[in-house]
Amino acid sequence: MAKISSCTASTLKDAATSLLSGNLVAFPTETVYGLGVDATNKDAVARLYKVKGRPSDHPLIVHISAMGNLDKWAREIPEYAIKLARNLWPGPLTLVLPRTNLVKNFITGSQDNVGIRVPKHPVANALLKVFEELGGLGVAAPSANRFGKLSPTSAKDVEDELFPFLAINDLILDGGICQVGLESTIVDCTLKIPRILRPGVISKSMVSEITGLELKSFQTDKQVKASGLLKSHYSPSAKVFLMGNPGIGDGFIALRDIETPKGAIRLAAPKDVTQYAQLLYRALRMADQKRIKKVFVITPNEGEISVAINDRLAKAAFK
Ligand code: TXA
Ligand code: MG
Repeated sequence: MAKISSCTASTLKDAATSLLSGNLVAFPTETVYGLGVDATNKDAVARLYKVKGRPSDHPLIVHISAMGNLDKWAREIPEYAIKLARNLWPGPLTLVLPRTNLVKNFITGSQDNVGIRVPKHPVANALLKVFEELGGLGVAAPSANRFGKLSPTSAKDVEDELFPFLAINDLILDGGICQVGLESTIVDCTLKIPRILRPGVISKSMVSEITGLELKSFQTDKQVKASGLLKSHYSPSAKVFLMGNPGIGDGFIALRDIETPKGAIRLAAPKDVTQYAQLLYRALRMADQKRIKKVFVITPNEGEISVAINDRLAKAAFK
């Protein structure tokens, strides 16, 4: 496994070629780091599931460089999904749509729908462009962590998580720290009205405003197999508490204005909810690095980003 920190045209070409040869390439996106493979290569996808330790019936998101390639992967695309793609791609948004024949069961966990995303991060976008220029069609990429764990927001996080599992020809592209810090908003576009399956920084009211449609409140469908929809997910080793007071040596996360209780170890003091989202996984990872056993969190409540933050915190706290 090699880590590449200068993402030049030539290293991106090497990475894209490596993907086409069936290797794994971890790459930065604006949300979190993804662990990419050629989405049409069954053996490569099988190895990806092994490296992640993820059950094979959990679907993967296919990443493409631009909206123009969407109809290779999805069909029966409703007008509202086109509006969302036009307004929000490239960006932290995944659309779930009926799949074409190109999408095999090994991508969707045998579901009839596929998740598609066009990431905005310049390294991700450039990698996908080169991959497509070389004849690739799409890159399947879950977050580059072991199943159930926190998504990585830096190349170092990916290395810490996956080093023992990656092979000599696999790569990690280092594109710095992810701006958003939480995974993309997933919108189910298979029904008359869009439905948010996983909240993210693209909020329900943004989706409503762009589509002109009134969304139902956030809900999950038991039929949909989505690992991010499990009650417990995104977990550090430390126990996370959303209520109560920290004792001496316990971790503490809250907005900057809130003082650290005596004896607690401050893990993050974000100035606003956007920064809260960006720092949350870093802070929880830091707790594990410092071998802190308990982390107390004051959940944010302003702005719609809080919905996504609190969704992840509820999952991190569920044991
Ligand atoms: O921000 C992100 O979305 C990151 C970056 C790397 O793009 N990716 C990511 O992938 O978070 P992953 O696999 O860790 O989480 C994707 C979630 C999973 O919960 C998966 O089950 C769900 O998306 N998903 C994928 N395809 C789906 C589908 N066809 N229907 C419903 N849920 C789907
Ligand atoms: Mg994930």
